[in-house]
Amino acid sequence: MGKVAFFATGNVHKFNEARFVFSEFKVAVAMLKVKTVEIQDSDIENIAVASALDAVKKCSLPIVVEDAGLFIRALNGFPGPYSSYVFQTIGVNGVLKLMKDIDDREAYFHSVVAFCRPREKPIMFHGKVEGRIVHEERGDEGFGFDPIFTPLKGGGKTFAEMGLEEKNRFSHRALALRNFAEWYIRQ
Ligand code: IMP
Repeated sequence: MGKVAFFATGNVHKFNEARFVFSEFKVAVAMLKVKTVEIQDSDIENIAVASALDAVKKCSLPIVVEDAGLFIRALNGFPGPYSSYVFQTIGVNGVLKLMKDIDDREAYFHSVVAFCRPREKPIMFHGKVEGRIVHEERGDEGFGFDPIFTPLKGGGKTFAEMGLEEKNRFSHRALALRNFAEWYIRQ
């Protein structure tokens, strides 16, 4: 029988990205819409671990969670671990305004996937994609900061100008999920 992973997320975009990656490894994935704590912390690893432990406590199942952030070099890594809050408050336009007179557009997305079984410690997997913040929003696909981020190897397209398959060729989340899936199929 093939493997199954339970992915705790309320974000259907993240779930679809995960489904696509897991299908490469013949791992079926179920979306668990359990609301987990999202602590404020300066480290996305700590956020992922807290969320994994909380999800396991609520569901008593082996759980996969994922936490990500956008780190902008000229802003000393801001919004980083605060990406979710920044997206909800000032949004994509707010970040573009902060970057208005800044020439250095370098940024990266970092994703941490945490897997946790009941009564065990979470195990973490990482993925990172280097890129740039563009000057104007482009594209309608995806979510979050996708319209303003272009990966270095993406031919100049923003993530929001890519379909899911193309984004998954480059994305931080796909890299972290692949690292997890390679380990998981050997368990
Ligand atoms: P989360 O806490 O992992 O859900 O991510 C924090 C925030 O980072 C989200 O609200 C998004 O705004 C942003 N983010 C995370 N991953 C992505 C992505 O793949 N594309 C665009 N924005 C993302």
